[in-house]
Amino acid sequence: MSTNTVDNTRKVTTKRLIEMKHRGEKIAMLTAYDYSLAQLVDDAGIDVILVGDSASNVMIGNPTTLPITLDQMIYHTKCVTNACKRALVVCDMPFGSYQGNSKEALNSAIRIMKESGAEAVKMEGGAEIAESIERILTAGIPVMGHLGLTPQSINKFGTYAVRAKEEAEAAKLLADAKRLEEIGCFALVLEKIPAALATKVAQSISIPVIGIGAGSGVDGQVLVLQDMLGITRGFSPKFLRRYANLADTINSAISKYIDDVKNVDFPNADEQY
Ligand code: KIV
Repeated sequence: MSTNTVDNTRKVTTKRLIEMKHRGEKIAMLTAYDYSLAQLVDDAGIDVILVGDSASNVMIGNPTTLPITLDQMIYHTKCVTNACKRALVVCDMPFGSYQGNSKEALNSAIRIMKESGAEAVKMEGGAEIAESIERILTAGIPVMGHLGLTPQSINKFGTYAVRAKEEAEAAKLLADAKRLEEIGCFALVLEKIPAALATKVAQSISIPVIGIGAGSGVDGQVLVLQDMLGITRGFSPKFLRRYANLADTINSAISKYIDDVKNVDFPNADEQY
């Protein structure tokens, strides 16, 4: 049972997120990729569920987000929308589904909306993908931007280190954020950038800025569900707070089950017909 004070019944919309920013109410966002966990996340009162392309790492075991396909993103998003009653569901557009040209980007976004039930899409990049974002927006599809560390460009960066520490990159990021607001994005994710820069961006634009590794001066936070629940192991960036240690809980439950089966303790007389 959630102890927070959110309205657990009223559907979250893109418009409502913008109102939340203007009221100074923080936005809580988490990833989810499947029906059962999405149901728990939605029931707890989360505002936004992102079906991130981090599903490539978390669900499929790929080393990067690059291999996940549009079909796989649609599959995971459909699992999530089947579970969600309240949260706004945003689907990441996967690498290769929008970088070619704006027509291809629009076709990919339309497939996501038609086949998955998502209510918005997220795209990594600034000015260089502005034309594609504009075309998607004209079809009535809300777009969330994503700047800073953009994992789909890992082969260009060569590292997952903090972005925009240098003045030139910080200035480009701020300009990109303003451009994304101007063309009509409803929100923006800032990943792994200095907290002072993220605060400046959030104060410079009127759409909500959701941070991951971007400090507390933004309008909301997002984490990968399996990371904050302590299911993923061997990944401990400074920004990650673990709210549970489910890897150990699951491991001990399964070990106990194995023991019970081996010792013919399970099933007992009450657990059979
Ligand atoms: O794919 C993802 O999970 C993301 C979040 C980390 C913002 O893009």
